[in-house]
Amino acid sequence: MNEAQIKTTDLICSLFDRQTIKKLIFSRFDDKNILKCEGRLILLKGRTALQLEYFTSDGKATQKNVFADALPAEIGSLIASCRQCNVITSSGEAELKTSKSGNSTLLDRIKGTDAKAEIGSNDKKKKNILVKNRFYPFLYELGVIESDGRIIERKGAKFRQIDRFLQYVEDIYPRLGNGEELYVLDLCCGKSYLTFAVYWYLTEIKHRAVRMCGADLKADVIEYCSKTAGKLGYEGLSFVCTDISEFTPERTPDLVLSLHACDIATDIVLTTASRLGAKVILSTPCCQHQIMGQLKGESEAEKTLSPIMEHSLLKQKFAVALTDALRCKRLQAEGYKVDVTELIDPEDTPKNLMIRACRVPMAEEAKAKYAEEFRALSALCGVNLYGGIK
Ligand SMILES: C[S@@+](CC[C@H](N)C(=O)[O-])C[C@H]1O[C@@H](n2cnc3c(N)ncnc32)[C@H](O)[C@@H]1O
Repeated sequence: MNEAQIKTTDLICSLFDRQTIKKLIFSRFDDKNILKCEGRLILLKGRTALQLEYFTSDGKATQKNVFADALPAEIGSLIASCRQCNVITSSGEAELKTSKSGNSTLLDRIKGTDAKAEIGSNDKKKKNILVKNRFYPFLYELGVIESDGRIIERKGAKFRQIDRFLQYVEDIYPRLGNGEELYVLDLCCGKSYLTFAVYWYLTEIKHRAVRMCGADLKADVIEYCSKTAGKLGYEGLSFVCTDISEFTPERTPDLVLSLHACDIATDIVLTTASRLGAKVILSTPCCQHQIMGQLKGESEAEKTLSPIMEHSLLKQKFAVALTDALRCKRLQAEGYKVDVTELIDPEDTPKNLMIRACRVPMAEEAKAKYAEEFRALSALCGVNLYGGIK
């Protein structure tokens, strides 16, 4: 697929997530027996699906219902097999046309089509998942609330952070698919506030069968978390004491989480998750010492950026941005659609950036272009991000 076709596939998936699709029309198929295919949103057993209706030259119409997990592949193959796609939404229209020679043009007149910006603004309006002053056994066991459900005073920021993270999980939930059992990893889980919260959300709110594993170096926290999971009766939740670079998962994870994994541990998380083929990765980086240590004032970029580099605080912020930009670029080069948002109010923690990566069908040329951008930025700044790039 070419870039415009990939962009259109992403656009449709994003509009599906936001449920703003009125109608999709695919036409001018390579297979002349297919006259056109129309798509519309329907509710099927309480879940949103895209209903595709194929009209064929024998006068028949056949229907197919597609859920979120299968959507990127389905739309990608539809777009690759026809030469026109019209997207009609509640906030405008878009049209993709592909010439006989295979060049595509996307004319996008949907207001706020920039999926990343839209996701950000939607996030702000999201409803809380945890209700204040309600008793949640996992929050009680973790020391976040009292036995009457009141939030312990010094745990207000933690409560907000957990709730916000759950909103992210809710956003990406349709991408996890509807297979038998979800497999989720929390790498560098520490005391595992998120692990427990996400397990609770997926099993008790989404009623899914879940196998989840938290991994961390610290034996005492792992023992505490294992005991707490037992107390709560969370049978599908286990913990393992290990260096995550040596961790062997049971199978391909659907979701990999990581909150504040120290320095290069975030790189280990991201490269491991991507190597394993995780469908979604949600990662909030912690410190970025590795790249900071490589900025010695010798590269071309640093010389030009000396007004930034001469102030250690600004240099530090630059190192943070550079590290996380390279991390995102590497994920893109590995076939992920990536966006960066704020996890929570920056007043609660300065380590607030959330990298959200969803595996999507991606052309090899697009991956190669992202890899080239990664290499060019690394060379310009004279740095090597831990883990490198393939
Ligand atoms: C700042 S804590 C964050 C803990 C937890 N995710 C949270 O946000 O509450 C970072 C954790 O990463 C763990 N860690 C760092 N490097 C690790 C590695 N290579 N393998 C496993 N755990 C690691 C540390 O033991 C620590 O518990």
